[in-house]
Amino acid sequence: MTLYRLGAEGDRPLSTVAQDSPPIVQALRYGITAPSAHNTQPWRIEVVSDTEARVYFDPARLLPVTDPPGRQVHISHGTLVEMTSIAATHLGYRTDVDVLPEGGMTLAEYGTKPTARLSLVADSQVSEDPLFAQILHRRSSRLPHTPQPLTDEERAAISAAATRPGLQPGWIGAQRMADAIECAVQGMTVEADDHGTFEETNQWFRFTDAEIATKGDGLNLDTAGMTGLPLAAARLTTRPSNWHSWINRSGYLRTFTKTVRDTRALLTLTTPANTMADWITTGRSYVRAQLTAAGYDLRFQPLSQTLQEFPQMDRLRARMDSLADVTPPAKLQMLVRVGHTRTPALSPRRDLSGILQPQ
Ligand SMILES: Cc1cc2nc3c(=O)[nH]c(=O)nc-3n(C[C@H](O)[C@H](O)[C@H](O)COP(=O)(O)O)c2cc1C
Repeated sequence: MTLYRLGAEGDRPLSTVAQDSPPIVQALRYGITAPSAHNTQPWRIEVVSDTEARVYFDPARLLPVTDPPGRQVHISHGTLVEMTSIAATHLGYRTDVDVLPEGGMTLAEYGTKPTARLSLVADSQVSEDPLFAQILHRRSSRLPHTPQPLTDEERAAISAAATRPGLQPGWIGAQRMADAIECAVQGMTVEADDHGTFEETNQWFRFTDAEIATKGDGLNLDTAGMTGLPLAAARLTTRPSNWHSWINRSGYLRTFTKTVRDTRALLTLTTPANTMADWITTGRSYVRAQLTAAGYDLRFQPLSQTLQEFPQMDRLRARMDSLADVTPPAKLQMLVRVGHTRTPALSPRRDLSGILQPQ
């Protein structure tokens, strides 16, 4: 398991599949390395033919407390859809994506209706998407940023990569950075001080190497952004049973606060409305922006707390909206720390075989 330790270099390992696996399986091998909220990898994928698949929610992998409308899990599906489409270009296919092919869904219908149908189409005109080269290098980083600022070129490239119809990227201006950072810190404090919301993180936290290896999902101490003595101490003391203790919460908040106060830039992704289709669009934009940033050795860390829709967050959500110049019905979908960091730990993935289902 040393592969997942902080600072581990190298490419993300892919699930092993037979060499003659159909193109859709080859593309999904890369697709399932996509980022997802809490690394729940909330997908179940039905392979319909050699070139087609339908993507569904795995109802056991939702975040009902911190993500009551299911917005973040849809965003996570958007990242998988986009990564799969990018990988398909490497194989010589373009991908026709049919978003919500059976229409929107109620919460009770999550898992029963697809979020997307992917159809790979062989196309001699298709050339490899330049972002394919970044797929295996992409990692989120919860580490402090180095002093190196983003250049105008980097900001412009990230914005251009995120831009698509119905999605507006932006940057928090220099005068508002300190206020936005303090608002994000307060948001995490609300989440950690509320038993229900912080318990959801506990459920998705993997405490031992054996647990990481068996489950292949979730968050862990190495990916949490702790280093040095605090990391060593946390390894000895952090347990599911003392997750809500004052000492664990204060250590968690101290690390978060210190890291977030060390932020070079804050990217925003906003949609003019707030539909399920907008959520999937956001995921597609987000991951294109993140892969583009990876090409400049820049790392992303979303700061989702103040964007979340549970009532304890209402006041801070309104505050962050105003700092990002967003007025409902427009929705601030993602707020993201962007900067250079040391090489972060690699987060685990489940094997493709446990995700694919025959029709
Ligand atoms: C919709 C969404 C919301 C996320 N929110 C947060 C967040 O609030 N804080 C954070 O540190 N990471 C956040 N992440 C990053 C995920 O935790 C990360 O992608 C996941 O743990 C897998 O790690 P990787 O991106 O390095 O592969 C979010 C990702 C997505 C797609």
